[in-house]
Amino acid sequence: MELKLAFIGFGTVGQGLAEILLESKEELAQKYNFHYKVVAISDKLKGAIYHPEGINLKQALDLAKSKKSLEEYDGAKEYGWDSLKTITDTNANVIIEVSWTDIKTGEPALTHVKTAIENGKHVVMTNKGPVAIAAQELMTLASKHNVEIRFEGTVLSGTPALNLGLRNLAGSRITEIYGIVNGTTNYILTEMENGLSYQEALKKAQELGYAEADPTGDVEGWDAVGKVVILANVLMGASITKDNVEREGITKITPEDIKQAQQEGKRWKLIARLRKTDDDRIIASVRPEKIPLSDPLANIMGPTNALTFRTKYLGDVTIIGPGAGRLATGFALLTDLLDINRILMLKQK
Ligand SMILES: NC(=O)c1ccc[n+]([C@@H]2O[C@H](COP(=O)([O-])OP(=O)(O)OC[C@H]3O[C@@H](n4cnc5c(N)ncnc54)[C@H](OP(=O)(O)O)[C@@H]3O)[C@@H](O)[C@H]2O)c1
Repeated sequence: MELKLAFIGFGTVGQGLAEILLESKEELAQKYNFHYKVVAISDKLKGAIYHPEGINLKQALDLAKSKKSLEEYDGAKEYGWDSLKTITDTNANVIIEVSWTDIKTGEPALTHVKTAIENGKHVVMTNKGPVAIAAQELMTLASKHNVEIRFEGTVLSGTPALNLGLRNLAGSRITEIYGIVNGTTNYILTEMENGLSYQEALKKAQELGYAEADPTGDVEGWDAVGKVVILANVLMGASITKDNVEREGITKITPEDIKQAQQEGKRWKLIARLRKTDDDRIIASVRPEKIPLSDPLANIMGPTNALTFRTKYLGDVTIIGPGAGRLATGFALLTDLLDINRILMLKQK
């Protein structure tokens, strides 16, 4: 069996996955019986290529890395197909959705994912938009069309937050999930503790590429809200939207607040929190909280992420790891692809 892959979007994460696929091709085949060919790449500005027999991924990656157009690729059957035509008209059976996130509408990714499913194609994605807006709808649609969808990288990138909750903690009775799910704000708070003002820390985060030119999505908590919604709906059986999440960003935290917390033996963290009440309601929030230094989350510094699962039978389980990055997020897609491959192999037996 061989998966035929099509990339929708070929930016940081798409190229990260491509790098891993090229570097690990033999190991993936030998250890996991994972065989693939990339048949198409469609990117808004970088161009698009398709060959039903497979494209030369190394050549495509080299072009993208040297900021050249994919139209310069030598040997494709078709050039310039847009995302939807690539999804519907190529022979790909797995769509890798790595275009931009729009947390408000989910588009254009939501349409990409629905179209792929309706055309009988499996989907892996790191794009929070469609999952935060329509996780249940997409999972139901996928099951109706007998295809798999996976989105491990939408929360904590390749650090296995969703798979841990769905698989290893299945049956553990998760009552609360809370943690640091946005690296940019954690980096800013860390630098403020090192003596910088909020503005200085933000500037440094932007220089290092942790924060975008418009940092609102991170510093006002919107990115974390999207992740809270995904965690609630995927792991806690809820059906909440961003409007059900109480939200406050970090912009009002002052150096004095930071010092005050230090004197109390605490640290400010932007905490995403989900709690199941006794009558099974979900209370969701994203806001700065003063965390005692004895809590593992208080010691997560810089852009690192961490998440604690409070469970009835296992107590607290905390995972710590990267929440972003080219290879870390590319790896999330690889875990999703391996998972789909495993399921398809089982179905074949
Ligand atoms: N980077 C991370 O660490 C990280 C972590 C977790 C999740 N994610 C999510 O993963 C996704 C990809 O992230 P990224 O960092 O790779 O972003 P990126 O570097 O901006 O790449 C996104 C690519 O998608 C292309 N694109 C946008 N709309 C498209 C469309 N309609 N059809 C085809 N291509 C389209 C863009 O094209 P042009 O720019 O060439 O026009 C761009 O090359 C995002 O949804 C992001 O939120 C990223």
